[in-house]
Amino acid sequence: MSKSRCITTPIYYVNDRPHIGHVYTTTLCDAWARAMRLSGDEVFFLTGTDEHGVKVEQSARDKGMEPQALADLNSAEFRKAMELFELTNDEFIRTTDPDHIRQVQLFVKKLMDRGDIYLGEFEGWYDRGQEEYITENRARELDYKSPISGKPLEREKQSNYYFRLSAYQDRLEKLFADQPNFVRPEARRNEVLGRIREGLQDVPVSRTNFSWGIPMPGDEEHVIYVWIDALFNYATALGLAEAGSERHAARGHFWPADLHVIGKEILWFHAVIWPSMLMALDLPLPGGIHAHAFWISEGQKMSKSLGNFVDLPTIEKTIGHYGRDAWRWYLLTQGPLGGQDADFQRDKFHETYGADLVNTFGNCASRTTAMTVKYFEGEVPAMADEGRDSIAERDWPTLTATATERWQAAISRFDLDDAAEAAIGLVREVDAFINDTEPFRVAKDDSRREELAGILGRCLEAVRIAATLLHPFLPDGSQKCWEALGQSVDPEFDELDQLASWGGLTPGTKVQKVALYPRVEPLLAE
Ligand code: MSP
Repeated sequence: MSKSRCITTPIYYVNDRPHIGHVYTTTLCDAWARAMRLSGDEVFFLTGTDEHGVKVEQSARDKGMEPQALADLNSAEFRKAMELFELTNDEFIRTTDPDHIRQVQLFVKKLMDRGDIYLGEFEGWYDRGQEEYITENRARELDYKSPISGKPLEREKQSNYYFRLSAYQDRLEKLFADQPNFVRPEARRNEVLGRIREGLQDVPVSRTNFSWGIPMPGDEEHVIYVWIDALFNYATALGLAEAGSERHAARGHFWPADLHVIGKEILWFHAVIWPSMLMALDLPLPGGIHAHAFWISEGQKMSKSLGNFVDLPTIEKTIGHYGRDAWRWYLLTQGPLGGQDADFQRDKFHETYGADLVNTFGNCASRTTAMTVKYFEGEVPAMADEGRDSIAERDWPTLTATATERWQAAISRFDLDDAAEAAIGLVREVDAFINDTEPFRVAKDDSRREELAGILGRCLEAVRIAATLLHPFLPDGSQKCWEALGQSVDPEFDELDQLASWGGLTPGTKVQKVALYPRVEPLLAE
């Protein structure tokens, strides 16, 4: 039965331009969304832009612009980036959408009515760059410096609205105990749990020092803190504050989200504040939070001053040279999905493209189709089971079923590396089979036609299934491969059960020789 699935990216700040970090998180979610659609599930994949806050207000002022104009401009850049990669998000939310603003106010009002948000006085350590208060313990640990910018923390006093986070201490600890996979990877879970155990304090949820934000309901002096405004996007996109609205009727069933995918620097908000707010609102909690590590670039942290940001123009150039699949494959298989940062290296990019796309998937699809054209007039031969040892050595129905199961299990754990490996591993198995059975030699002997048909039929079938499992990672190549095998597949509607079951290729189907990935020269730095 088809399930409703929901996955989200962080919403990106519009005072920055899109770069590899944003594209990476979104691509991870895109691969998962494609895999789930392929598995027959109904998917809602959400991304968008975070447009309020003092940073946006300041950037706009520096540029002599209105904040809304800057937000419009940069939000469009992010949207363009999604289109460039043909990312299949179902919604691109903007926090300046009136629909979002209205719902945030409804949520905040409800929290005020319930006493979970109250007006109080606060003094604490403030990281100005991050717009974030830091607890006394943590500030001490950090030597009173921002962990991000290194600038000194400032002592700040404000009359503010607070969220009663302290009331959720026990429930949060219980959540972490009951659902050990709520935060992944494990190292990140342990970090955040350690911080929770130090004790939770109430957190300010409003500001008075700027105006570019959503006003607190009933108190126009205060603006809702940008992080609270932003976290609610996951709920407002589905209309959760307005039961009975059109949006809620169409999308409400997608809540709770299966997974929030984020970078490791914003885990506290997602793993602590967000679940507590949901508990306060009596809303179900998301299935989990995956906090990946960071991309660095050619051995160094990406930074504006070093000029080593892998920004949109660099990405466009890379895609222009190697193709979109190459870009996705590198990100998805060599990226910082787990606890370790990953280094973006041109050399490694080139090497990975050559090894996996050109020499493995591309080469295998090309030689199996070429042999079919050469020896069987381009028609899928019937697999005659005459049981020659070298053919019988590999139990293909079991091999493909095992790869598919491994792929499914990996996708559900968000272990995209392992899912990609299960898929490309099947292609390597076909290559090994060709090397063992030597169809080009068998073809020289007319009396061995049945054996040749048995070999090639199996190769084509296994490549078809591998292309299916590769689809979320290599949408262009897999589509081209399906077409070459005479298959018209729509991964939105066709389902894995059918696509990956052995015996889907009808003998006599027309096959064309296909070249998936051209060999190219390395792309040199300017
Ligand atoms: N607006 C907040 C998120 C609000 S979500 C309710 C924000 N925006 S951001 O524009 O700074 O984007 C942060 C996200 O971009 C990270 O969590 C991560 O997904 C991605 N990345 C930014 N730089 C990155 C790297 N160098 N490497 C990998 N991803 C990183 O925070």
